[in-house]
Amino acid sequence: MTPTPEGPVLPPGPAGPVDMERMRRDPLAFVTEMARRYGDITRHVSDGEPVVMLNRPDLARHVLKDNFANYTKVNTPDDHMLRPLLGNGLLTSDGEEWARQRKLCAPAFRRSEVSSFDGIITEETAGLLERWQQAMGDGAPVSVDHHLTSLTLSILTRAVLGVDLGAAGEGFGRSVDAVNRFMGHYVPDPDPDPADTALRRQGYVQARAFLHTVSRTVIAARRTTMGGADPHAPQPGGKSTGALLDSMLDELSDTDLRDQVLTLIMAGHETTAKALAWTLYLLDQHPDEAATVREEVDRVLGGRVPTAADLADLPRCRQAVEEAMRLYPPVWLISRRATGPDTIEGYDIPAGTLVCVSQWVLHRHPDYWDRPDAYVPGRFDGPDLPSHLYLPFGGGERTCIGMHLALIEAVLVLAMLTQAVRLEVEPGFTVEPEALVTLRPKHGMRMKVSAR
Ligand code: HEM
Repeated sequence: MTPTPEGPVLPPGPAGPVDMERMRRDPLAFVTEMARRYGDITRHVSDGEPVVMLNRPDLARHVLKDNFANYTKVNTPDDHMLRPLLGNGLLTSDGEEWARQRKLCAPAFRRSEVSSFDGIITEETAGLLERWQQAMGDGAPVSVDHHLTSLTLSILTRAVLGVDLGAAGEGFGRSVDAVNRFMGHYVPDPDPDPADTALRRQGYVQARAFLHTVSRTVIAARRTTMGGADPHAPQPGGKSTGALLDSMLDELSDTDLRDQVLTLIMAGHETTAKALAWTLYLLDQHPDEAATVREEVDRVLGGRVPTAADLADLPRCRQAVEEAMRLYPPVWLISRRATGPDTIEGYDIPAGTLVCVSQWVLHRHPDYWDRPDAYVPGRFDGPDLPSHLYLPFGGGERTCIGMHLALIEAVLVLAMLTQAVRLEVEPGFTVEPEALVTLRPKHGMRMKVSAR
């Protein structure tokens, strides 16, 4: 810690600006190296602005939970990217507006509530397995990551909107793709390929308009179907048969509802698909772990379709997913901006500073994890982990609202795929992570599907 005569006491880090090109080429190597070289709290200048990284659980907790009121999502890089599409939904709103929305949405996302989506999850997964029959016949590898993204998108649109989009589903999926392609890629300045960027921007604008139209249409239809019905009233059998948006129908305007629908769908499907893709990859690389999962699935389910009631008996499936999200967290970086001055570990954090926590770094921190780079699902069998060490769903007040749904979905999908097929990475195919908005397999995930 080097105090300057009058200025603030700043965390350690490189003296000059960082090599932006190198950082963008491999952001995971960059955040790892910063933690190794400079420790648990670091500072660097990126794109002309200071960035503080917090690489220890208690420091992450300080920003996400204990001093949460001093940190906002507004004006962070994520905010700039997401707000034009998602408006002022739960992911992007702030302060009192966020608190109001969170309170409104929270009951519908409880574990007991989202368990009722198990039928949608297993039906859609059965559909995917049916489509794979063809590939099993001719032995051609499939792009598992794409298939999983379509699967999680179909599940989530049905859960959020309460309808199967049917024929419009394909256009919806293509539009979500176009939006992801545009938002997910950072364009350097100067842009090396402005024509390509313009094309993607045009695709994005058209896709956004399409998504808005579909959401508005479905919301109007839902309002009519629900007309007069109290969405909060208990359903026969005590289970909600509704959609996630029902609890908001009476409270939000059409535009706010549209923002919320797109927020839930965009925040929820790609992340879950990536968690599943990495799980399938790691299980293929670790045959012993795959055998443990297969044994559990066969013993517990005996060939029948799983339901939410089976989840408690499928701990190995859950741990396989949890450990995959440790090694490859679908959200690999959380950012906040300090609204007022703060002091962390004796260092000054001036108001306006961008403060980041990287799950990639925390989840592989050698002081906290035994064999940090190894895939060991059994480690989640033990006692509770230190607070804010494992953050696949974030931490503190703004923890992922879809966490229970995502876990139920990932475990049920994994169980059904394990039951029916074997998935092996195509020989010679390179799988490596690429840190865009989500942590995805850079070249996709081509796998051979065979019947068990
Ligand atoms: C494996 C799947 C998922 C992962 C890894 C994941 C990860 C995360 C993370 C890390 C955050 C916190 C971001 C921050 O603090 O800046 C978050 C927030 C959020 N997630 Fe998820 N998520 C997943 C699934 C879902 C699903 C299924 C939904 C919706 C159905 C969803 C909706 C949201 C929303 C609305 C927020 C903002 C919550 C708030 O600020 O109050 N997520 N998610």
